[in-house]
Amino acid sequence: MARDGAIYACQSCGGVQTKWSGQCPACNAWNSLVEELTSRPPGAMTLTKPTRKVHLAFEGLDEATVAPPRIATGVDEWDRVCGGGVVPGSAILVGGDPGVGKSTLLLQVAAQAALRGAKCAYISGEEAVEQVRARAQRMGLAGAPVKLAAETSLRAISDGLKAEHFDFVVIDSIQTMWSDAHEAGPGSVTQVRAAAGELVRLAKKRGMAVVLVGHVTKEGAIAGPRVIEHMVDAVFAFEGERGYPFRILRGAKNRFGATDEIGVFEMGDAGLAEVKNPSALFLNTSGERAAGAAVFAGIEGSRPVLVEIQALVAPSAYGTPRRAVVGWDSGRLAMILAVLEARCGLSFGDRDVYLNVAGGLRISEPAADLAAAAALASSVFDQALPQDCVVFGEISLSGEVRPVSRMDSRLKEAAKLGFRRALAPAVQDSAGGALPVTGASRLADAIQRIHDANWDGSP
Ligand code: TYD
Ligand code: MG
Repeated sequence: MARDGAIYACQSCGGVQTKWSGQCPACNAWNSLVEELTSRPPGAMTLTKPTRKVHLAFEGLDEATVAPPRIATGVDEWDRVCGGGVVPGSAILVGGDPGVGKSTLLLQVAAQAALRGAKCAYISGEEAVEQVRARAQRMGLAGAPVKLAAETSLRAISDGLKAEHFDFVVIDSIQTMWSDAHEAGPGSVTQVRAAAGELVRLAKKRGMAVVLVGHVTKEGAIAGPRVIEHMVDAVFAFEGERGYPFRILRGAKNRFGATDEIGVFEMGDAGLAEVKNPSALFLNTSGERAAGAAVFAGIEGSRPVLVEIQALVAPSAYGTPRRAVVGWDSGRLAMILAVLEARCGLSFGDRDVYLNVAGGLRISEPAADLAAAAALASSVFDQALPQDCVVFGEISLSGEVRPVSRMDSRLKEAAKLGFRRALAPAVQDSAGGALPVTGASRLADAIQRIHDANWDGSP
């Protein structure tokens, strides 16, 4: 029988149970339920009779609103993902793999904001003050008036933040913070939730922006911090492939801006450099384009990005052919392979297929379908696409090439980077665009062109 008021929180998924058991009923993790003693949560319904009527005031949608004020930190890529700067009183969760560069990014943002006059604090629960200072020196930011502290006690942090006003506070990381009001160990769901709750409350009350850093587990969920995603105003993921210098800050939730915005950085000796023009970054512009490569003109957030998609189709040595994808969706690849087989007469049944998005970028746009198909066909035919050609278009199961959004921006960006033609969905008014478009309304036509290397003549 559960004790009165006792609940059991799973340290793996954050699910709450009223009874203890050896295995979490929600996520099937073993030995993950830990008792939490709760008094009634503040604001919970009580069963006593209300003593007075509470008036609920409604307002119309058309009433005047004020845009939230924002602090421009001076790191434009960060500000862009925030929606144009950090909103005072907001709480932001930044998640990412250990070692991806979260501490570096946030120290840089805090330092730049401090140089622009904002009062900034950086509280590290993982590193000593000397380590943080040494990093700032290496990045040439030692002169920035950021207040540093190494602290993990929530009480000390809370008192410190109440005693002095800050505009921008970084907590690195939320998993190291612990509250003495709870018995559970640091990093447990209980502690993470308590620490985040307290810090978010403090942020709202004192009008300071708080950034919580959170580490991500192997599965890609923000461990522990997953349970605080609903408490914060914005959730950003900081991503990067090991072995590549590029880092991408991606909005996953944002109450003060669009979530499809990305910020691109490059990790170097002196910290993270902003990449203002990401298009050229993922592109190998030197040398001939090999068979099996297609340049995709994509859109990431509000910006066009050109990226090379590489495919290799090789005879399979085993009964079950391999399909391996990096940077793209494997389900989407299966679909494209099926359409190529059913509508274009290509056969992949006895071949291994590898697909890679160059530069460590992850693409989720359906507009990449045609580029992936072109790369695959180019590999099958061992026939390179023209060096100066970009490709984009969505493919339907019936084998049609469908128009995609923002074709003009894609073409303009490609023209800017020296491309001279595009293999793209056939649309009525393609004349007068930035590039001559070789229009394809059916995938089979596009594949035929690649096979015949027919780029100038009509079909
Ligand atoms: P860090 O910010 O500590 O990662 P996180 O906080 O996400 O765990 O970054 C660690 C990595 O960044 C480390 O592998 C070294 C690299 N790095 C650079 O390459 N150049 C630099 O100037 C800095 C500060 C770090
Ligand atoms: Mg760190």
